[in-house]
Amino acid sequence: MEWKTRVTDLLGCKYPILEGAYAGIGNWRFAAAVADTGAYGLITASAYRTPEKLREAIGNCRDATEGVFGVNLSFGVCPGIEEMLEVCIEQEVPVETAGYKPDSLAPRIKESGLTWVHKCARVRDAVHAEKLGADALIVVGLEGVGFKSPEQLPTMITTIQAVRELEVPFIAAGGIGDAHGFLGALGMGAEAIMMGTAFMATDECPLGEKAKEKIVRSSPYHPQLRSQVLSPPDPVAFKEAMDMRDQMPVEEWLRMVERVNFKDPSWKTDVDPAGEFAFDDEWMGEKPSKLVSLAVGVLDRVVPVKELVDGIVQGAEELLGGWEFLKTRSVNHDSTGD
Ligand SMILES: Cc1cc2nc3c(=O)[nH]c(=O)nc-3n(C[C@H](O)[C@H](O)[C@H](O)COP(=O)(O)O)c2cc1C
Repeated sequence: MEWKTRVTDLLGCKYPILEGAYAGIGNWRFAAAVADTGAYGLITASAYRTPEKLREAIGNCRDATEGVFGVNLSFGVCPGIEEMLEVCIEQEVPVETAGYKPDSLAPRIKESGLTWVHKCARVRDAVHAEKLGADALIVVGLEGVGFKSPEQLPTMITTIQAVRELEVPFIAAGGIGDAHGFLGALGMGAEAIMMGTAFMATDECPLGEKAKEKIVRSSPYHPQLRSQVLSPPDPVAFKEAMDMRDQMPVEEWLRMVERVNFKDPSWKTDVDPAGEFAFDDEWMGEKPSKLVSLAVGVLDRVVPVKELVDGIVQGAEELLGGWEFLKTRSVNHDSTGD
């Protein structure tokens, strides 16, 4: 069947499935591999550090795939974000901005006519970005990984609310990793999904094999993972950390914000947080990978990226076929008890 939505029309991909951004590992080879499957690939600009390197990465990605891809520009993470945007404009590559307020880049993006997706953690920030002119919005639900907001809500209610409040197409994200999550999100009115954790458990992800195996072995029930992902950061600590943005180099600041996100009580000290968290008891089993979401609950093994995407699409088609009877069955309404 044809998986056509306003998002596939906007971005030009075959399937309404988007790759997440990854600081450090979101490189062009990975984006090209995702784009080759018919999903939408994403180069993370911060993985390249300079406009020259980003330009080269875009060129390499174009040469490597016939599929479509964009570039993620994450506020607070991407160095020289304005210059990185200029490269995207020059190369005519769609951008995905990420962070709660895209105000500083919005006028230039709109003036350039570039396709623009914005990603944030609250529906109200999405509504704000829509007013600035974003063409599509992603709001990552609580189950997802990445920058957390103390006001973040679970993916299901986030999706339903966002679809109600936005005019432009909405892309659901947070804890999605299989056909059921994909179809469920579309059923709630989303016009695509975006996956971060699920794409990391693929052969093409530039992560070590051991790290990938650990992702698929991680349990969504592990108390440390649940705490990392589900409980929002302490709002006071979060604000304090945000206010310290200009007091140190950005990498150092990001590591600090990450520790606030992970509820590390010693986030202000220079103690290495590894092993310092509260959930150390052996009976809890192996510690989960730190940078994953509850999507680990639906990931069984590391697979080629094509297998992941095809499995989601084919699984969704089978599910739809299986429910076809709902449209045709004759229901016996006889309730007389005779
Ligand atoms: C290792 C890792 C690094 C990430 N880095 C970024 C980033 O630099 N910028 C960004 O916008 N999102 C980043 N994210 C978040 C993802 O792009 C995506 O929003 C999130 O993974 C969606 O939730 P899911 O993992 O449940 O699919 C990162 C996620 C992971 C797992």
